[in-house]
Amino acid sequence: MSRLQANRRHSVRFSLNGKPCAGEAEPRTLLTDFLRHHIGVTGTHVGCEHGVCGACTIDIDGQPARACLTLAVQVDGCEVRTVESLAPSPDRLGILQAAFKRNHALQCGFCTAGILMSLDGFLRENPKPDEQAIRDLLTGHLCRCTGYTPIVRAALEAAAEIAGDLSREKSDA
Ligand code: FES
Ligand code: FES
Repeated sequence: MSRLQANRRHSVRFSLNGKPCAGEAEPRTLLTDFLRHHIGVTGTHVGCEHGVCGACTIDIDGQPARACLTLAVQVDGCEVRTVESLAPSPDRLGILQAAFKRNHALQCGFCTAGILMSLDGFLRENPKPDEQAIRDLLTGHLCRCTGYTPIVRAALEAAAEIAGDLSREKSDA
Protein backbone atom coordinates (compact mmCIF):
# COMPACT_ATOMS: atom_id res chain seq x y z
CA MET A 1 0.00 0.00 0.00
CA SER A 2 1.46 3.37 -0.95
CA ARG A 3 2.29 5.86 1.80
CA LEU A 4 0.69 9.27 1.52
CA GLN A 5 2.41 12.41 2.67
CA ALA A 6 0.53 13.82 5.61
CA ASN A 7 0.90 17.48 4.79
CA ARG A 8 -0.23 17.50 1.20
CA ARG A 9 -3.44 16.96 -0.72
CA HIS A 10 -3.91 13.83 -2.79
CA SER A 11 -6.14 13.24 -5.75
CA VAL A 12 -9.29 11.19 -5.01
CA ARG A 13 -11.30 9.86 -7.96
CA PHE A 14 -14.41 7.80 -7.42
CA SER A 15 -17.94 7.23 -8.63
CA LEU A 16 -20.52 9.24 -6.67
CA ASN A 17 -24.14 8.20 -7.19
CA GLY A 18 -23.26 6.77 -10.58
CA LYS A 19 -21.26 9.74 -11.86
CA PRO A 20 -17.50 10.28 -11.93
CA CYS A 21 -16.29 12.57 -9.17
CA ALA A 22 -12.84 13.89 -8.31
CA GLY A 23 -11.25 16.09 -5.69
CA GLU A 24 -8.20 16.49 -3.53
CA ALA A 25 -7.91 15.60 0.13
CA GLU A 26 -5.28 15.45 2.84
CA PRO A 27 -4.86 11.93 4.25
CA ARG A 28 -6.55 12.98 7.52
CA THR A 29 -9.71 14.39 5.85
CA LEU A 30 -12.82 12.45 6.81
CA LEU A 31 -15.14 11.32 4.04
CA THR A 32 -18.04 13.14 5.70
CA ASP A 33 -16.19 16.46 5.52
CA PHE A 34 -14.94 15.75 2.02
CA LEU A 35 -18.43 14.98 0.69
CA ARG A 36 -20.10 17.91 2.42
CA HIS A 37 -17.47 20.66 2.24
CA HIS A 38 -15.30 19.80 -0.77
CA ILE A 39 -17.77 18.08 -3.10
CA GLY A 40 -20.84 20.00 -1.87
CA VAL A 41 -23.09 16.94 -1.43
CA THR A 42 -24.70 17.64 1.93
CA GLY A 43 -27.34 14.90 2.31
CA THR A 44 -24.96 12.83 4.47
CA HIS A 45 -25.28 14.07 8.04
CA VAL A 46 -22.66 14.24 10.77
CA GLY A 47 -23.71 13.46 14.32
CA CYS A 48 -21.31 11.83 16.77
CA GLU A 49 -18.28 11.60 14.46
CA HIS A 50 -17.16 8.37 16.09
CA GLY A 51 -19.24 5.64 14.53
CA VAL A 52 -22.07 5.41 17.07
CA CYS A 53 -25.11 7.35 15.84
CA GLY A 54 -25.30 6.11 12.21
CA ALA A 55 -26.29 9.50 10.79
CA CYS A 56 -23.39 9.44 8.31
CA THR A 57 -24.10 5.98 6.84
CA ILE A 58 -23.47 5.71 3.11
CA ASP A 59 -22.80 2.84 0.69
CA ILE A 60 -19.26 2.06 -0.46
CA ASP A 61 -18.88 -0.65 -3.09
CA GLY A 62 -22.26 -2.10 -2.14
CA GLN A 63 -21.65 -2.18 1.62
CA PRO A 64 -23.02 0.23 4.23
CA ALA A 65 -20.24 2.25 5.84
CA ARG A 66 -19.82 5.02 8.38
CA ALA A 67 -18.50 7.99 6.42
CA CYS A 68 -17.23 9.52 9.68
CA LEU A 69 -14.91 6.54 10.17
CA THR A 70 -13.67 6.57 6.57
CA LEU A 71 -10.91 8.73 5.21
CA ALA A 72 -11.64 10.46 1.94
CA VAL A 73 -8.51 9.01 0.32
CA GLN A 74 -9.79 5.49 1.07
CA VAL A 75 -12.61 5.79 -1.49
CA ASP A 76 -10.23 6.41 -4.39
CA GLY A 77 -11.47 4.05 -7.13
CA CYS A 78 -14.66 3.09 -5.22
CA GLU A 79 -18.35 3.35 -5.99
CA VAL A 80 -19.94 5.59 -3.40
CA ARG A 81 -23.68 6.11 -2.98
CA THR A 82 -25.24 8.67 -0.70
CA VAL A 83 -28.84 9.48 0.20
CA GLU A 84 -29.00 11.71 -2.89
CA SER A 85 -29.05 8.51 -4.98
CA LEU A 86 -32.41 7.31 -3.63
CA ALA A 87 -34.75 9.67 -5.48
CA PRO A 88 -35.30 8.69 -9.13
CA SER A 89 -35.53 12.38 -10.12
CA PRO A 90 -35.44 15.74 -8.32
CA ASP A 91 -39.24 15.89 -8.17
CA ARG A 92 -39.88 12.28 -7.07
CA LEU A 93 -39.12 10.36 -3.90
CA GLY A 94 -37.71 6.86 -3.86
CA ILE A 95 -39.81 4.02 -2.44
CA LEU A 96 -38.18 4.17 1.00
CA GLN A 97 -38.35 7.96 1.16
CA ALA A 98 -42.05 7.97 0.21
CA ALA A 99 -42.80 5.32 2.87
CA PHE A 100 -41.00 7.45 5.49
CA LYS A 101 -43.07 10.46 4.46
CA ARG A 102 -46.38 8.55 4.57
CA ASN A 103 -45.64 7.07 7.99
CA HIS A 104 -44.22 10.21 9.61
CA ALA A 105 -40.99 8.28 10.18
CA LEU A 106 -38.98 11.45 10.66
CA GLN A 107 -39.27 14.59 12.69
CA CYS A 108 -36.06 16.63 12.76
CA GLY A 109 -34.68 14.32 10.05
CA PHE A 110 -31.15 14.39 11.38
CA CYS A 111 -30.88 10.60 11.59
CA THR A 112 -32.91 9.95 8.45
CA ALA A 113 -30.27 9.97 5.70
CA GLY A 114 -28.23 7.33 7.49
CA ILE A 115 -31.22 5.15 8.29
CA LEU A 116 -32.44 5.32 4.69
CA MET A 117 -29.03 4.25 3.39
CA SER A 118 -28.78 1.35 5.86
CA LEU A 119 -32.29 0.20 4.94
CA ASP A 120 -31.60 0.57 1.22
CA GLY A 121 -28.71 -1.90 1.41
CA PHE A 122 -30.50 -4.15 3.91
CA LEU A 123 -33.65 -4.52 1.81
CA ARG A 124 -31.57 -5.46 -1.22
CA GLU A 125 -30.06 -8.34 0.78
CA ASN A 126 -33.24 -9.16 2.77
CA PRO A 127 -36.27 -8.53 0.59
CA LYS A 128 -38.76 -9.99 3.10
CA PRO A 129 -37.65 -8.84 6.54
CA ASP A 130 -39.81 -9.23 9.62
CA GLU A 131 -40.23 -6.54 12.25
CA GLN A 132 -37.49 -7.98 14.48
CA ALA A 133 -34.96 -7.89 11.62
CA ILE A 134 -35.74 -4.22 11.00
CA ARG A 135 -35.45 -3.46 14.71
CA ASP A 136 -32.10 -5.28 14.84
CA LEU A 137 -30.85 -3.16 11.94
CA LEU A 138 -31.99 0.00 13.69
CA THR A 139 -29.82 -0.80 16.71
CA GLY A 140 -27.05 0.74 14.61
CA HIS A 141 -28.84 4.10 14.49
CA LEU A 142 -29.84 6.67 17.06
CA CYS A 143 -33.06 8.61 16.57
CA ARG A 144 -34.01 11.10 19.27
CA CYS A 145 -37.43 11.97 17.88
CA THR A 146 -39.58 9.15 16.56
CA GLY A 147 -39.44 6.28 19.06
CA TYR A 148 -38.54 4.08 16.04
CA THR A 149 -42.04 2.60 15.61
CA PRO A 150 -42.96 4.69 12.54
CA ILE A 151 -39.55 3.90 11.03
CA VAL A 152 -40.22 0.18 11.41
CA ARG A 153 -43.67 0.62 9.86
CA ALA A 154 -42.22 2.57 6.92
CA ALA A 155 -39.47 0.01 6.35
CA LEU A 156 -41.95 -2.90 6.30
CA GLU A 157 -44.22 -1.01 3.92
CA ALA A 158 -41.31 -0.18 1.60
CA ALA A 159 -40.12 -3.79 1.68
CA ALA A 160 -43.58 -5.01 0.61
CA GLU A 161 -43.68 -2.44 -2.19
CA ILE A 162 -40.19 -3.33 -3.45
CA ALA A 163 -41.06 -7.06 -3.36
CA GLY A 164 -44.25 -6.31 -5.34
CA ASP A 165 -42.29 -4.34 -7.94
CA LEU A 166 -39.77 -7.14 -8.30
CA SER A 167 -42.43 -9.82 -8.76
CA ARG A 168 -44.21 -7.58 -11.30
CA GLU A 169 -40.90 -7.19 -13.18
CA LYS A 170 -40.46 -10.99 -13.16
CA SER A 171 -43.99 -11.64 -14.44
CA ASP A 172 -43.51 -9.03 -17.19
CA ALA A 173 -40.27 -10.70 -18.33
FE1 FES B 1 -20.85 8.79 11.86
FE2 FES B 1 -22.30 9.27 14.05
S1 FES B 1 -21.56 10.69 12.57
S2 FES B 1 -21.75 7.35 13.18
FE1 FES C 1 -34.88 13.45 14.70
FE2 FES C 1 -34.45 10.89 14.08
S1 FES C 1 -35.99 12.20 13.28
S2 FES C 1 -33.21 12.19 15.28
